[in-house]
Amino acid sequence: MFLIKNVKVNGEIANIILSGNKVSGIVKDVEKITDVPSFDAQGRVIIPAFVDIHTHLREPGFESKEEIATGLKAAVAGGYSAVCPMPNTNPVTDNKYIVSYIKTRAKEVNLARVYPIGAISKGLKGEELAEMASMKNAGAVAVSDDGMPVTNSNLMRKAMEYADGLGLKVISHSEDKSLAEGHANEGANATRAGIEGISRVAEEAMVAREILLADSLNTSVHIAHVSTANSVDLVRWAKAKGIKVTCETCPHYIVGTDELILGYDCNAKVNPPLREENDRQAIIAGLLDGTIDAIATDHAPHTKAEKDREFALAPNGISGLESAFSLCYTALVESGLMSLCRLSELMSKNPSKILNLPCGEIAEGGLADFVIIDIDNEYEIDSSKWYSKGKNTPFNGYRVKGQVMTTIVDGNVVFNRESEERK
Ligand code: DOR
Ligand code: ZN
Repeated sequence: MFLIKNVKVNGEIANIILSGNKVSGIVKDVEKITDVPSFDAQGRVIIPAFVDIHTHLREPGFESKEEIATGLKAAVAGGYSAVCPMPNTNPVTDNKYIVSYIKTRAKEVNLARVYPIGAISKGLKGEELAEMASMKNAGAVAVSDDGMPVTNSNLMRKAMEYADGLGLKVISHSEDKSLAEGHANEGANATRAGIEGISRVAEEAMVAREILLADSLNTSVHIAHVSTANSVDLVRWAKAKGIKVTCETCPHYIVGTDELILGYDCNAKVNPPLREENDRQAIIAGLLDGTIDAIATDHAPHTKAEKDREFALAPNGISGLESAFSLCYTALVESGLMSLCRLSELMSKNPSKILNLPCGEIAEGGLADFVIIDIDNEYEIDSSKWYSKGKNTPFNGYRVKGQVMTTIVDGNVVFNRESEERK
């Protein structure tokens, strides 16, 4: 038995009793329970640990950007108990051996749960379907060619049909490359900066295609990193028609706009690109009305050397695991737009449901995966202190609230900021 004492659950101080790796009770009074190992949460808020259904852990192949060990340390420091790494590794995660390798390495590291996402097509080439059944048997929970769009519509259609039969979700990186040759959102700021623009239609046309394919096949599809107002409208329309579509957005589309590129900071270069204020507002509206189901990080670590280049040459991506919650909490909850309960759903329960994972809730009999938050203390984002190898964020220096203090996975304290800082 293990006791997490003095936590704020749904606004009230309580104590959580764990038996093994499961929650066995949430009680007000623990005076009678003595001689049990415990952790004192000092009256802080406890919510289900976060579940990231869109992470790049970079291993195998790109260990200079991130390793499974550093990525998982970053995950637990960000309050995540489960992450789903994307398959754009080297070799590509398009077969059972790489899926097994990732699972094995994650078990050795033993911090957060890892649910790999396999490739849709062999080598992410968009030509031939990868072996989904054997990847699923090895532990893959979804398929995606993230980083690369599936250009061939017929291949995407086959992928949806095949994956549906296996109970795997298809996650679409929706991008028409022929409209996306630039490096920032097409608009006044890209023009001002002299950076070639990427049309919003590059995303929206593919979002529309995926929705129509899913409708025609009566299968489901999940749209990754939604960033434009029209994409939100398309998903809203599809949901109203009963089409089985879900979608995610990322903290950087909630907090940032393409104004961040005006200083040529390559840390603001991401795909899809940061958009404009009306898109940002539409994303927030979508989060509020349930059109957008989840917030995922698209944690995309890159080295300093890769990002210290001219804008057009730098790779796309923002390192996100260690700032996601604070950025979202500050922009959405502290600002009064949404309740902590809704944000928690967007970061834990809903992503978990989308991929059918056993996480995302604090319930009797449920997994003991929690995050303890300090909601009052304001602090400054400083990526030089992160555990991730990727320090690439445009949000350094942002003052935020909602600091992750402790992460508990499977009943074990896997991250505790106060003892880390004392080291
Ligand atoms: O910005 C991005 N970075 N978008 C993607 O789709 C891929 C990712 C990466 O792998 O770096
Ligand atoms: Zn992507």
